[in-house]
Amino acid sequence: MKVLVVGSGAREHALAWKALQSPLTDAVFSAPDNAATAAIAVNCPVQATDAEQLARLCQEREVDLAILGPDAAIAAGAADAIEARGCLVFGPTTAAGRIESSKVFAKELMARAGVPTPPFHAFTDRERAKDFVRGEGRAFVVKADGLAKGKGSIVPSSQEETLEAIDTLMLARSVGAAADRILLEERIEGREVSLLALVDGSRSHPLPPVCDYKRALEGDRGPNTGGMGAYSPPGFFTQADAERACRQVIDPVVAALGEAGAPYRGCLYAGLMLSDGGVQVLEFNARFGDPEAQVLLPRLDGDLIPALEAAAAGDLGRAALDWRSQASVGVVLASRGYPGPMVKTGRLINGLFALEPQVYAFHAGTSASPAGYETSGGRVLTIVALGETVAGARERAYRNLERVSFEGMTYRADIAEREVAAQVVG
Ligand code: GLY
Repeated sequence: MKVLVVGSGAREHALAWKALQSPLTDAVFSAPDNAATAAIAVNCPVQATDAEQLARLCQEREVDLAILGPDAAIAAGAADAIEARGCLVFGPTTAAGRIESSKVFAKELMARAGVPTPPFHAFTDRERAKDFVRGEGRAFVVKADGLAKGKGSIVPSSQEETLEAIDTLMLARSVGAAADRILLEERIEGREVSLLALVDGSRSHPLPPVCDYKRALEGDRGPNTGGMGAYSPPGFFTQADAERACRQVIDPVVAALGEAGAPYRGCLYAGLMLSDGGVQVLEFNARFGDPEAQVLLPRLDGDLIPALEAAAAGDLGRAALDWRSQASVGVVLASRGYPGPMVKTGRLINGLFALEPQVYAFHAGTSASPAGYETSGGRVLTIVALGETVAGARERAYRNLERVSFEGMTYRADIAEREVAAQVVG
């Protein structure tokens, strides 16, 4: 079987790495280039948003299964174009992917499907949004309606900060047109967990729960990022909880999308808040999470490809996934200044070949040079380690990432720390 992985980040490196382990896989193509997949797959210089060229690539290379990584590929219609050429696609069409590409669409869908989610108000006019906040006299979560690479959601703690957040998105246009419409969402408290499920158009199969860390700085401070680390499994949300939540929040929206003529096939990711009032959905993503995928895939004992093929073919009933009991912790190594625009690149990365067994370096912002890999972006690598416990995996991840270095390297030192502390107390 020939597999195409669309996207060039650490998530897609992990998907290509896992796809290659399948006895069914003859070849993996990666589009566009990722410096690390150059060593394990055939890199193809086609952008993830160029739906027609991706479709042509699938036809020319006789690809059997295309796996879509980034939201931008989905929004650009990659699944629609590839499917039209008769190739199986793991990833939703643009219409089904609106569950991520428009937060207002997702909220309306959840309302129709009876899925619990915090109340919201949508605005296209900045002054009206600010008047509303002043009238309420309190803080709201401010979210861009469109795709914003994880940077479109601001969680202010006061009315004043909420007004500033509206200006950041709508006046300074920090995420561009994605914030032409914004949502003001009620703040709810609780613990966040990522629930990812394989979906075949009507059925779903939950993956083990994961916790990710979206804020740039330790203690969950600083701006939101594309993700700074993750671990699995969390002690406070079991696989049985994931099964229940899947029936409560994933299945109803999958059914509603099917009824709307936009059946969903691919990975559906619900960002959950476990609040006093029960499970609430903060957002849906139409893809594998990043860095959730990097943390989950090393835990998968066996073959990923049959399950993705089954979901893409609308026949998830025959899919089975076995998971190792081992825990997994992933820490993102970033360039100083991330998530701002002014990161320095071209810095030589040392120590990548000094990692222990069961430790993986998934590449996001790297490029190959005669001297070795160099940095080429804000998020550079995800270092993932397996261990018998979360504490063991965490210790191994941090011990190994200290062997890696590049000028300006930063990372959060508290990934999975709360989980380990809770287990010690418990
Ligand atoms: N980990 C957050 C995301 O993938 O959007």
